[in-house]
Amino acid sequence: MVKICCIGAGYVGGPTMAVIALKCPDIKVTVVDISTQRITAWNSDQLPIYEPGLEEIVKQCRGNNLFFSTEVEKNVADADIVFVSVNTPTKTQGLGAGKAADLTYWESAARMIADVSKSAKIVVEKSTVPVKTAEAIEKILTHNSKGINFEILSNPEFLAEGTAISDLFNPDRVLIGGRETPDGNKAVQTLKAVYAHWVPEDRIICSNLWSAELSKLAANAFLAQRISSVNAMSALCEATGADVTQVAHAIGTDSRIGSKFLNASVGFGGSCFQKDILNLVYICECSALPEAANYWKQVIKVNDYQKTRFVNRVVASMFNTVANKKVAILGFAFKKDTGDTREAPAIDVCRGLLVEKGQLRIYDPQVPPEQMRKDITMVRFDWDRNVALRSLGDDELKQVTVVHDAYEATIDAHAVCILTEWDEFKSLDFKKIYDKMQKPAFVFDGRNVVDVGKLREIGFIVYSIGKPL
Ligand code: NAD
Ligand code: UGA
Repeated sequence: MVKICCIGAGYVGGPTMAVIALKCPDIKVTVVDISTQRITAWNSDQLPIYEPGLEEIVKQCRGNNLFFSTEVEKNVADADIVFVSVNTPTKTQGLGAGKAADLTYWESAARMIADVSKSAKIVVEKSTVPVKTAEAIEKILTHNSKGINFEILSNPEFLAEGTAISDLFNPDRVLIGGRETPDGNKAVQTLKAVYAHWVPEDRIICSNLWSAELSKLAANAFLAQRISSVNAMSALCEATGADVTQVAHAIGTDSRIGSKFLNASVGFGGSCFQKDILNLVYICECSALPEAANYWKQVIKVNDYQKTRFVNRVVASMFNTVANKKVAILGFAFKKDTGDTREAPAIDVCRGLLVEKGQLRIYDPQVPPEQMRKDITMVRFDWDRNVALRSLGDDELKQVTVVHDAYEATIDAHAVCILTEWDEFKSLDFKKIYDKMQKPAFVFDGRNVVDVGKLREIGFIVYSIGKPL
């Protein structure tokens, strides 16, 4: 039986390994993590992450060929294939701070693999890493091992949160990069055979290591660039009376452009788009390519602009002040169907409104209240100037109430801000909400989920991204 060990039981390691275990009953899969809390949760009825369809798979495989363990070294030593799926955040200090990827976790995992290994292993980069990381890892592994053969593969993950299981079941492609040597090719074929249990062969792309590493950064940069492009267009729509949904539809029907990922919004969030683009910017700068770096920087600048623009719109519409006004915040997660709040636009919007002395009542179906408070008060960095932004403290936190129901959030409110596109917000009874709000009642829809015409008929003053005012 082939043995796989995955280091890192997070949003990628957990679902990816659960699907491999489900699709490959002949493979033993163990997911290890240094966080006892996370592993305990993976072994309980309350999984550490919310992802539609995940719980059923874990329940089906756990204890059969899927295991979660804190015994990192033992399981790595036993494995034939070791996936490394640890976090690779942006560095906040030292050389490259604010842009470069922090590979501390990656490097410590690599050193541990070198220390504990007694047999040959395929080491798979699952984390998103700077191009050429495999070279550094190879050095660490080969200089520390006792003549053991390690083959490094790059197998970046393209799943999106909220749809992780369907993305893993039916990926557009699986990408495997390896050394173009006989041993490298053999390792690529071994990993390919794992995916071939359920992914059609023509969707498994093989490339050299550097192409695979760079393709991951490129894919995220292109996806985020589409959102910033449509968001930049949304500002122009508001200024001209065009409707961004109509513009996106009109351009998206051109098969060269395509219709996906053209939803204007309050801004993109998530743990990866900003981090990976900053990483790309840093690599361009280090490669003496400032023009290429500046091009990609602009994608994040437009995203920051979109969030600031939203806050300014709220304040300006409400007669230039939200001080002591009650604002209902519907949605805090960075997108629907996840409880993840990393880089959620809601964090910056809430901070902006709190600085303006607004009284916020926040509701999200999946985000725990303590997570929201932590996010609002945590230190934020200005990535461009690389300085910490002013921290919010207890005084501002007193302006925040977290509630467990969307209707409760809106009672007596002066305004409603929709910051995550949860399906349940589409079917809210806005007449009922209007009746219990202060007048004039405002709705600021950062996700284009409401029917603007209907809400205006009810009596709301409505602002929706990229729609005629
Ligand atoms: P995460 O923070 O949810 O999980 C990482 C886990 O690694 C944590 O539980 C941490 O405790 C563990 N870890 C760190 N160092 C360790 C060590 N030395 N030994 C054992 N465990 C260790 O991160 P994530 O969202 O799963 O992302 C992981 C990587 O995948 C990142 O590089 C990210 O860019 C990439 N990625 C993420 C997504 C996504 O949707 N979240 C999608 C594609 C790629
Ligand atoms: C994204 C990519 O889609 C994945 O392919 C990639 O594997 C992953 O990053 C990663 O490397 O971490 P994810 O961040 O989970 O996945 O979610 P997306 O669906 O891409 O959404 C990202 C953000 O963009 C969300 O805040 C979402 O609301 C926003 N978005 C998305 C828009 O504002 N408009 C759109 O049209 C699409």
